Amino acid sequence: MTILVVGATGLLGRATALALLKDGKRVRAMVRDRARAADLAQAGAEIVEGDLTDPASLERACKGAFRVFAAAHSLLGRGRYSSAQVDHVGHSALIAAALGAGVERFVYTSALGAREDHPIDFFRTKFEIEEVLRESSVPFTILRPSAFMECHVHRFNGQMLLDKGGTFLIGPATKPRNFVAVRDIVPIAVEALVTDILVGRTIEIGGPDNLSNHDVALMYQVRARQGKVRHLPLGVARTLATLVRPFHEGVARVLDIGLVSDDQWPEEFDPRELLAEFPRKQTTVDQFIDERVREWRRSRVGKR
Ligand SMILES: NC(=O)c1ccc[n+]([C@@H]2O[C@H](COP(=O)([O-])OP(=O)(O)OC[C@H]3O[C@@H](n4cnc5c(N)ncnc54)[C@H](OP(=O)(O)O)[C@@H]3O)[C@@H](O)[C@H]2O)c1
Repeated sequence: MTILVVGATGLLGRATALALLKDGKRVRAMVRDRARAADLAQAGAEIVEGDLTDPASLERACKGAFRVFAAAHSLLGRGRYSSAQVDHVGHSALIAAALGAGVERFVYTSALGAREDHPIDFFRTKFEIEEVLRESSVPFTILRPSAFMECHVHRFNGQMLLDKGGTFLIGPATKPRNFVAVRDIVPIAVEALVTDILVGRTIEIGGPDNLSNHDVALMYQVRARQGKVRHLPLGVARTLATLVRPFHEGVARVLDIGLVSDDQWPEEFDPRELLAEFPRKQTTVDQFIDERVREWRRSRVGKR
């Protein structure tokens, strides 16, 4: 009973694959580069090479799989790996390959706020792939997580303040956003993959806090007692997005995301309904930042 994980080298895919393996499940990890999957192989995963832009590799990866977890994306990609090629064409091909192989469950990672008329193409694509699944005959579950703390609290914000001495926010960055830790998504992904109770459902997943990027930067600054919080004026960000778009659509998209007005794309989430169904002590942004700052202090002691 093999579960195929696509995007197994990513934050959510890797953590879910490892949780499934720990639970004794048989996992096939589809990866572009075996070297990035050494820990998965070590933990007992079958590693197969595959690429969402190569339909034949998807057919090979799905063959004999019983369930598929789709946790890949190319938000920042360009050219052959543009979001249109990977997130739309590639995921449509993955669903077709799963159907062809007789896969009996497809769990798709969409995103909170995905909708047909979203101002950002990536979130429209997520919605379109949800629709492909709803119209297909494969039993599915759709997960719609909010912004991952690992990316949006740390990598794109606090990590720069710790490692580079300052972070750059687009505009005032005061919009309240929901952040969720990957470790709080994994149990729901596992449940969707190993039980039947979530078939046909679209599940919105968010964490306990709605905070702005500016709030987050200040939380790092206070704990680390260092770092500048700088703001890129909206006009400059708009010009940069226009200049960079012909060369790198992924970077332009990230700038666009920071430029969408709050009312066009609310990012708050109330987790009460989620917690009623999946009771769990969720990771707070406060706790998550404490962990990252402690790690950073330890790494500095190690370097002395
Ligand atoms: N991060 C967030 O804040 C967030 C929020 C909401 C929803 N989501 C969704 O959650 C899912 C997981 O996100 P994540 O942050 O865990 O992802 P991630 O860490 O950015 O990893 C992306 C994964 O996709 C794989 N990938 C990219 N292009 C591929 C291709 N052409 N063929 C095969 N694999 C490819 C990458 O493989 P390589 O290692 O080879 O690059 C990697 O394993 C995605 O669907 C994402 O849209 C994420």
